[in-house]
Amino acid sequence: MLEEKTIEWIEISKYNGFSRMIDQTLLPLEYKKVDIKSSKDIYNAIKTMIVRGAPAIGIAGAHGVALGAIENIESENFIDEIKNTAKYINSSRPTAVNLNWAINEQLKILEENKEKSNREITELLIQNAVKLENEDIEINKKIGEHGSAVIPKGATVLTHCNAGALATVGWGTALGVIRSAYLKDKTIKVFADETRPRLQGAKLTTYELTRDGIDTTLISDNMSAYFMKKNMIDVVVTGADRIALNGDSANKIGTYLLAISAKYHNIPFYICAPKSTIDPDIKSGEEIVIELRSKEEVTTVNDKLICAQGVNIINPSFDVTPAELITGIITEYGIFKPNEIYKLFE
Ligand code: MRU
Repeated sequence: MLEEKTIEWIEISKYNGFSRMIDQTLLPLEYKKVDIKSSKDIYNAIKTMIVRGAPAIGIAGAHGVALGAIENIESENFIDEIKNTAKYINSSRPTAVNLNWAINEQLKILEENKEKSNREITELLIQNAVKLENEDIEINKKIGEHGSAVIPKGATVLTHCNAGALATVGWGTALGVIRSAYLKDKTIKVFADETRPRLQGAKLTTYELTRDGIDTTLISDNMSAYFMKKNMIDVVVTGADRIALNGDSANKIGTYLLAISAKYHNIPFYICAPKSTIDPDIKSGEEIVIELRSKEEVTTVNDKLICAQGVNIINPSFDVTPAELITGIITEYGIFKPNEIYKLFE
């Protein structure tokens, strides 16, 4: 199992260090870690998807705020500079609420300790980033444990995008459920959607699962209904980037289509996500901002043009699956019916 952390804080001293992460743009051909030493580079790493996946970019954001403190440790405007850095990093990608959540966890530390010295505050921000980093793995293992109960013996599980160790600090959410189920039942199998346009399923999910020895079949995104009709899929599990209080869930583009197909074929469809992916400030999926990404992600594969030059392109990176299509939301606190997820905030 992929035991190394996808992203981790490397300590130089109590009030100095940097972020080390797997460069996910190179996988599966090359496994390389990069050291990110400034808040600006954290912004770029999130934007260019060196680090991606909702929980992983949350931790990158927390590291970025710590780097902002290190950069401004001698500044007289220390508090304001950190707040500006937080705002800047938070603008790198709009849909995954974990980024906003983790940055806010850092801003709470800042607020609670603003009377302390710059050095003490920097130390506390680093400590908090490392705490969030370590908690992420524990949370995913709990999601895995709860979720493994919904995977029938010998099941074939369909997943979309990459909600694995690479999308988190470790273990994964949807792939965490698959991993935990696999530890109990070695006969389960996985069908992985390739997930155009950026191919996170093909490049990252198959990389993770085949390394773990889990029987994995890669399919293109337009094949899932075919296999559902043939009774070859028993359950669907995916991650999420933002969940509204009514259970509507944003995830990688194509998830909605998958949920419609699953409903039509009476196949259970589960979202797997930590509480930090639920946005208590929005009532429904209508309010979720969907990131639009570059045309090149659609017009090219591995930098080669695959369509007529100049054709119109729209590239929404996420879609929202309505709560009524979701069988359950698997969290570290257990499995909730989508219309009961708000209870986590009561
Ligand atoms: O654009 P990405 O690769 O960041 O999108 C990732 C997803 O949609 C994941 O399914 C989601 O972040 C959940 S990750 C545990």
